[in-house]
Amino acid sequence: MSRKAQAVKLLDEQGRRVDGRLPDEMRPLKIEVGKLKNADGSAYVELGNNKVIAAVYGPREVVPRHEALPDRALLRCRYSMLPFSVAERKSPQPTRREIEISKVVREALAPAIFLEEYPRTAIDVYIHVIEADGGTRTASIIAAATALADAGVAMRDLVAAVAIGKIGEVLVVDINGLEDQYGDGDMPIAMMPQLGEVTLLQADGVFKPEEIKRALEMASKHIRYIHSVQVRALKETYAKVEEGEVVG
Ligand code: CDP
Repeated sequence: MSRKAQAVKLLDEQGRRVDGRLPDEMRPLKIEVGKLKNADGSAYVELGNNKVIAAVYGPREVVPRHEALPDRALLRCRYSMLPFSVAERKSPQPTRREIEISKVVREALAPAIFLEEYPRTAIDVYIHVIEADGGTRTASIIAAATALADAGVAMRDLVAAVAIGKIGEVLVVDINGLEDQYGDGDMPIAMMPQLGEVTLLQADGVFKPEEIKRALEMASKHIRYIHSVQVRALKETYAKVEEGEVVG
């Protein structure tokens, strides 16, 4: 374990983490669908202390028109962290990090969408991080995929994501802000849960081949759970629609 990780005691003598979790334990996850009335689809996600909202607009006319693609929809994603979402105020200007996360979120979602069903249109996904505590890109992917389904966009599968971290030699699931800052590795993984296909795999830190294999196994187990929460949230919303209650 790095000296930094030891100094903040990321793992105690019982093998518990800074927030009391065991290595293979996720933070509590809550998903609410259809909160935004003006969006075609939306989802609000709480993952531990992370609070993220995703709004989907489209498929709709592409502006500017020259960006339209003749054979498929143009998928645009914008991830942004609100200035008060982190301890030290963040400028509202898009940072390099936000531009990078917007790109990886788009690439994580695109394989799941039947983009070819919507030629010459745009599907816009806006993601706002209201509060951040490590793992906002994975919470954003969960929110965005759920919002796409809420918008009725044709999809092969949902997409769910979780980050596997490393504290010394121990792999831990769903790292929080402190673990991200002082830990020894961070591997965000997104998958289409039913198809079992990985759509995002990033790694910060050093992972041995054996650790990558175990990280993928760990992630895929938790991604199946996240998928069940996404499905439940979507079903609950549409059960209300069937009962005649107006939602989203
Ligand atoms: O959020 P995620 O883990 O996907 O991305 P990261 O770049 O690894 O950022 C880790 C965490 O650092 C974020 O979730 C925030 O809690 C924190 N952060 C911050 O405090 N201030 C920033 N300007 C950016 C990130």
